[in-house]
Amino acid sequence: MTENDFVPKGSTSLPMDGKVRYKAPSNIALVKYWGKKENQIPANPSISFTLDACATTTALSYKRSEKLLDSFSLELFFEGKLKEDFKPKIITFFERIEKYVPFLKEYHWKIETSNSFPHSSGIASSASGMAALALCLLSVEKSGNPEMSEDYFNQKASFLARLGSGSACRSIEGDLIQWGHTPGIPGSTNLFGVTYPFEVHQNFKNYHDTILLVHKGQKTVSSTVGHELMYGHLYAEKRFEQAHQNLEKLKKIFGSGDLDAFIEIVESEALTLHAMMMTSLPYFILMKPNTLEIINRIWSFRLATKTPICFTLDAGANVHVLYPESHKAKCIQFIQDELVAYCENGHYICDRIGKGAQRLVVDQQ
Ligand code: PMV
Repeated sequence: MTENDFVPKGSTSLPMDGKVRYKAPSNIALVKYWGKKENQIPANPSISFTLDACATTTALSYKRSEKLLDSFSLELFFEGKLKEDFKPKIITFFERIEKYVPFLKEYHWKIETSNSFPHSSGIASSASGMAALALCLLSVEKSGNPEMSEDYFNQKASFLARLGSGSACRSIEGDLIQWGHTPGIPGSTNLFGVTYPFEVHQNFKNYHDTILLVHKGQKTVSSTVGHELMYGHLYAEKRFEQAHQNLEKLKKIFGSGDLDAFIEIVESEALTLHAMMMTSLPYFILMKPNTLEIINRIWSFRLATKTPICFTLDAGANVHVLYPESHKAKCIQFIQDELVAYCENGHYICDRIGKGAQRLVVDQQ
């Protein structure tokens, strides 16, 4: 597949107006994407668990304009309130995808969006938000082209979402999604996320992710800036190589169900991501003292009880605590007894691996 495969061919009869609604989940990377090339092409491949509870629901209403507009006509509501300050991000997204969604200037768009998690939780909503919006827009194209296959629909939705926010391309399907070309994974591509093509051991089904909200404030450095700092980074090339190697190692681990080996890769990836931040120029730290307290508690508990519990981090201070279904009760007890005290106002979110985005009936909550 190339980018050109996502440019609609021929003329289709698009609807005059309508409304569509999608719910798209967040995702948590096991092998991290950090560093990108032009057009949101990742500098290294990544893989993630699709989540379930943390999600964005977006309703898109559209009405055809009398004539082709000079600029995008849109209004955006977040949790019921008009949000002018979210508009520039959406306009940038529309500019990037216009070649692939050529009817954007033919409609007035009303976007109504909300998250299942609190806005100021420090959980990034860009992955779920861009995925939900990409799905809504693509379903307008599909209504003029009902023959579009499900595979193509998912690929193009992921492709469009990627142009909004890289990791959003892993939020269309579940439950294990790979993005970025790597020789060992057939069908892997930089253009969109694909469902992991190999057998995955039962140990990794229904995996849990309890998200400990350590710091709910704004991050000091955005992901966009963080990615840019990988240009000319002293350790960048080695890091990109390591991501390919870790994906290769995970292949065997996913097949055999080896939880110790899984933990080693996942925690090393999280710490490497933050090591890249600490060794960028300018350098920065997104972890907080409580992030480290939690990590140390997890290590002590794992050593003492031999429970296969581990952590990962995204670009922030919050900690994702990962554990298999078979150890759920013990891990939740440990989290409540020992870790919740390190969360801001004791807040955490119990999530688990999920099946991907869903189309909702228009007025469904
Ligand atoms: O999708 P972005 O540009 O917000 O970057 C996300 C990067 C990480 O969350 C840190 C890693 C990843 O692979 O999701």
